[in-house]
Amino acid sequence: HRTAAVIPAAGRGVRLGPGAPKALRALGGTPMLVHAVRAMARSRAVSLVVVVAPPDGAAEVRHLLDEHPLPERTDVLVVPGGDTRQESVRAGLDALPADITSVLIHDAARPLVPVDTVDSVVEAVRDGAPAVVPALPLADTVKEVEPGRPGEPEPVLGTPERSRLRAVQTPQGFDLKTLLHAHETIAVNGEGATDDAGMVERTGVTVVVVPGHEEAFKVTRPLDLVLAEAVLARRRA
Ligand code: CTP
Ligand code: MG
Repeated sequence: HRTAAVIPAAGRGVRLGPGAPKALRALGGTPMLVHAVRAMARSRAVSLVVVVAPPDGAAEVRHLLDEHPLPERTDVLVVPGGDTRQESVRAGLDALPADITSVLIHDAARPLVPVDTVDSVVEAVRDGAPAVVPALPLADTVKEVEPGRPGEPEPVLGTPERSRLRAVQTPQGFDLKTLLHAHETIAVNGEGATDDAGMVERTGVTVVVVPGHEEAFKVTRPLDLVLAEAVLARRRA
């Protein structure tokens, strides 16, 4: 078994507000992407990290990673991404060498995922699960609504039983052939998916959930950056 990690980092971070592409914003003085690469490299199972950079930012990202030390046993490739997350992931998968048999897909926007979470995903894949996602129970009750115009009240269609719902994180782990097959069949049909496991589900393969971690939250909005800074400060204390 040889496992690689692909880190989609090509998004602009519109919801975080104006500034540099999200993955290049600083967290504790270090770009978020560097934290994410280190989080993957910290796992002994990961020997290669493929970073998917903003389409026009591959050279800048390469330079940045050369400036920040990583464990010596980890190789890092940088490739340009695409307009959608799915296209960016595909670009990362296309860069993998032939001896890779399993892959982790990890958002650059989840810079603080603990190594134990990474390892438990890898372990489940190596134990034979074709697709594994870390996830947590929800704190909030979730409603399905009929989406209306912005600002208008939206009719509620139903309330799924909260105890059966999970909020999904990354890294998501896959048998590489299973994920490539999903990209070839689902992506060609032009259907979108908000996560990688969602594509695999549509090919009829069973995805399993392992426990996620609260520090694997995604930095999406400005408040998330406040939380990430606080978590980092607590770790350094
Ligand atoms: N991503 C990517 N290529 C894209 C869009 C997103 O590689 N075309 C990556 C982001 O860089 C991020 C991850 O996918 O690491 C999760 O996406 P998200 O949190 O939505 O980040 P952004 O798309 O950058 O943020 P926003 O949706 O607010 O613009
Ligand atoms: Mg996005």
